[in-house]
Amino acid sequence: MVPSAVRVGLLGLGTVGQGVVQVLERNRADIERKVGRGIEIVRALVRDPSKPRPEGLPAERITGNVEEILGDPEVRIVVEVMGGTGPAREYILRALRSGKSVVTANKDIMAEHGAEVWAAAAAGGADVFFEASVGGGIPIVRAMKQSLAGNCVRRVAGILNGTTNYILTRMSREGLSLAAALAEAQAQGYAEADPSADLDGLDAARKLCILSSIAYSTRCRPAEVFRQGIRDIGPADIAYGARMGWICKLLGISELRKGAVSMRVHPAFVRREHPLAAVSDAFNAIYIQGDAIGEAMFYGRGAGSLPTASAILGDLMDAARFIDRGGSGTACTCFHQRPVEDIGAVISRFYIRLHVDDRVGVLAQIADAFGRCDVSILSVLQSPLSPGEALTGESGEGERAELIVVTHEVREDSLERAIAGLRRLASVRGVGAVIRLAPEDL
Ligand SMILES: NC(=O)c1ccc[n+]([C@@H]2O[C@H](COP(=O)([O-])OP(=O)(O)OC[C@H]3O[C@@H](n4cnc5c(N)ncnc54)[C@H](OP(=O)(O)O)[C@@H]3O)[C@@H](O)[C@H]2O)c1
Repeated sequence: MVPSAVRVGLLGLGTVGQGVVQVLERNRADIERKVGRGIEIVRALVRDPSKPRPEGLPAERITGNVEEILGDPEVRIVVEVMGGTGPAREYILRALRSGKSVVTANKDIMAEHGAEVWAAAAAGGADVFFEASVGGGIPIVRAMKQSLAGNCVRRVAGILNGTTNYILTRMSREGLSLAAALAEAQAQGYAEADPSADLDGLDAARKLCILSSIAYSTRCRPAEVFRQGIRDIGPADIAYGARMGWICKLLGISELRKGAVSMRVHPAFVRREHPLAAVSDAFNAIYIQGDAIGEAMFYGRGAGSLPTASAILGDLMDAARFIDRGGSGTACTCFHQRPVEDIGAVISRFYIRLHVDDRVGVLAQIADAFGRCDVSILSVLQSPLSPGEALTGESGEGERAELIVVTHEVREDSLERAIAGLRRLASVRGVGAVIRLAPEDL
C-alpha cells in the first residue's frame, strides 16, 4: 500500500520558500517516486498574508497564524525558511519537541543554538536537517556528516560568504573601491541593505562553526572564532597582491591541532594557481582535509532561491523517507569537548601596508620594530605615494612613501606586538591593511 502524502508546513515564503515551492512543483513526479510517497505543502507562514505573491501555492494555504502549522498534528515536517533567531528559534524547538521533523536553512540558529536544537530533537524523537544553512546549494553538510564521517578531519577551509567573494572579485577584476563594489553587490541582490554580517565576517564565522562542529565532533561557537572582515581592504592591496601572484579572498579556516580547535575568518592572499583563487563572484567553495580522503573540494552556488531550494528539497525528501521509521538515526555528534586554541598561537605569514615618512633612517626604524618582536621580514617594497592618498586616521605633512612588508611565518601575538610598536613610531603615519597569506600547505 502506498503511504499517504506527508503533510509539510513551510515557515516563510520569501526567496528560499518560493524556490522550494517552485522546485517541488517542477520535479514533483520524480521527487515523489524517489521518496515513495507524496509531499504536500499544506500551509506556509508569512508575516503579511495580504502581500501579493508569485504564483505557486494556492492563496488559501498562506497564513499569518503559526498555530495552523505547529498546532496541526497532521503536519509531520516543518521547513523553516523565515530566518533570524527570534520567533524562528521558538518555532523550531516547539516543532521538534512535538515530534515534527525540521528542515532549516537557518545558520544563525544552528551556529548559536545548535545544542538546544539537537536536545529538542532528541526529546521529540524527531529529525533535524540543515544542509541549506552552509554553502547554499553545495551538498557539504551531508557529505561531512555521512560520506566523510570515517575520516579524522584536520582542516576545513573555504570561501563561505558569496557577498564578500563577489565584492573582492569585482575589486580584483575592475579595480573598484570596496564601496563601489558593495553598491554593485547590493544592486545585484547579493548584499543586504545592512551588509555588516557579511563584511565583518560574522556570516562566514557562523557557517565555519557549523562545519567545524561536525568536523571535530565538538560544539563550536561563533564567539570562539577569530574574526577580521574586509573593510580595510583597498584596491591598492588587491593590486599589490596581484603583482606578487596572489588573489585576495575572505577565508574561513578551522584546524584540529593537538586536540584543540582553531577557528578564524579573515581576508587572505591565496596563490593564483590554487583552486580557491578561481572561485569567483558569489560562488562558494569548501576544502576539506582528512586523514583518509586527503583533500576534497566542494564548489557551487552558495546562495540564491533555487540553489538553496535544492538543498532544502534533498533534506525534505530524507525527512519524508524516515518520518514513519522512527527517524533517520542522525543525531548530534558533538561528543568531545575540545579546547579552542587562542589566535595568538596561530602561525601565518603577513602582508602589511604602511605609510611612512620618506627620509633616511626610517626603514631601519621599521625593521627594528619588527625585529624586537621576533618578526622576520621576507620582503619590503617601497613606492612613492600619490598626492592625497591617505590611510584611515593618517595625518601630517611632508613627503611620504608606501611600504609593503611581507613577513616570514610568525605567531599572531608577535605580529600584533610589532604592529603596536609601529603605531608608536612618529615616522609611521598610518598602518593600512594587514592580510595573512593562506597557509602554504593549503
Ligand atoms: N536567500 C538566500 O539565498 C539564502 C541562502 C541560504 C540560506 N538562507 C537562509 O534562509 C532563510 C530565509 O531567507 P530568505 O532569503 O528566503 O528570506 P526572505 O526572503 O526575507 O523571506 C522570509 C520569509 O519569512 C517570512 N517571515 C519572516 N519573519 C516572519 C515572522 N516573524 N512571522 C511570520 N513570517 C515571517 C516572511 O514573510 P513576508 O513574505 O510576509 O515578509 C518571508 O516570507 C534565512 O535563514 C537565510 O539565512 C537564505
